Amino acid sequence: MDTRKSADKDRMQDIVSLCKRRGYIFPSSEIYGGVNAVFDYGPLGVEFKNNVKRAWWDAMTRQRDDVVGLDASIIMARRVWQASGHEEVFTDPLVDCTNCKARFRADHVIEDQGNLDTCPNCGAKGTLTEPRRFNLMFKTYMGPVEEDAGLVYLRPETAQGIYVNFLNVQSSMRKRPPFGIAQIGKAFRNEISPGNFTYRMREFEQMELQYFIPPEQEERWYDYWKEQRRQWYLDLGMTESHLSWHPHGADELAHYARAAVDVYYEFPFGSKEIEGIHDRTDYDLRRHTEFSGKDLSYYDDIEKRRYIPYVIETSVGADRSALAFLCDAYDEEVVKEETRVVLRLHKRLAPVKVAVMPLSKKDELQALAHQVHDSLRPLGLTQYDDTGGSIGKRYRRQDEIGTPYCVTVDFDSLENKKVTIRDRDTMEQRFVHIAELRDVLAADLA
Ligand code: GAP
Repeated sequence: MDTRKSADKDRMQDIVSLCKRRGYIFPSSEIYGGVNAVFDYGPLGVEFKNNVKRAWWDAMTRQRDDVVGLDASIIMARRVWQASGHEEVFTDPLVDCTNCKARFRADHVIEDQGNLDTCPNCGAKGTLTEPRRFNLMFKTYMGPVEEDAGLVYLRPETAQGIYVNFLNVQSSMRKRPPFGIAQIGKAFRNEISPGNFTYRMREFEQMELQYFIPPEQEERWYDYWKEQRRQWYLDLGMTESHLSWHPHGADELAHYARAAVDVYYEFPFGSKEIEGIHDRTDYDLRRHTEFSGKDLSYYDDIEKRRYIPYVIETSVGADRSALAFLCDAYDEEVVKEETRVVLRLHKRLAPVKVAVMPLSKKDELQALAHQVHDSLRPLGLTQYDDTGGSIGKRYRRQDEIGTPYCVTVDFDSLENKKVTIRDRDTMEQRFVHIAELRDVLAADLA
């Protein structure tokens, strides 16, 4: 048996079960048997994913002068998707098994087994149909009657909301290329073969930047954004050797791209794409100019010339990158002959920053511990844990959810006004005056 493969499979199962057990991620509509490839983020998951999104938003907009934000709607005019090309070509090749009725993406089957000769589900030979194109956009209808005139799509990417607002943003914010518009929001794809937990879902979130540039600066900004995005992962503690870069060959390029590179992460289930960086040229603005009749070119009154800006796009799934950060952080180590599970999340991403624990439930200790806890609330989400059980057990619970620091209030604290800070990664402990505690932790969490 391939032991590495089975260890990796176990690792993924451990992560999925931790997510459920500790309130990170639940299957959607679970009490009704779940919905395939749709997930809900629990109390810690929503904090964690928000931290991922905040880290992206901060790096991509607030720390820069040349990028502004946008929050466009999910439902847009149908013409948008005709102009973008999605109505025509946003399809995957679908094959059916005539024996077991399972459906697959033909390219995935070929990737896995080299041909379409046998059904990956039931193993029958010669039962897969010829591939046919299947459009991935979810349809719905505006208004009370389900008729073609009311047909709309749930957006399959957030990018188009940016292109159709190009003029609004550019003119209201008085921006001159090079400048970017960033957006985080839901996207929907009726994936044929979803799977691997939150890796490939039917409802997910994207974090996308469209960076508008003078056409001749295409190469420079493509290279620039590749490096910026690499650095983002490293700044948030991602293991560099788990990241790799895969430029698209001519046959892999999306219909809008002249050049593209995928960022891959080494998941337990294989090395897979988490982000795409695309040179979209003037494809989108040109098409929207054609389809809407509105001129989306830019007149540069310094250089006295008019052009349709080119676009460099960086597009990453919030869920997918969050899953990569979770996989990267998951660790098990043996401490005193017991296995300690620890999520070594970067402090900025950890959902709970500090947990406060009174050593006992005695009133006088609880009062002081509550005071300490209240004083730490400005640091971010905190937890108060006075559940029974040893301090060791409570530390382990916090390790599992990735809390960087635990603060223990014991009977000596009542006398000497000192508490213990325990570090998640090193498990080292230090004593700190309560009066200095918040500043010390704020510096450590920064
Ligand atoms: N606007 C360009 C675009 O949408 P894409 O490569 O199709 O490009 C970009 O998607 C990113 O969106 C992917 O790298 C992935 O992180 C995320 N993504 C795409 N489909 C997804 C799905 N079904 N589930 C989760 N994330 C997905």
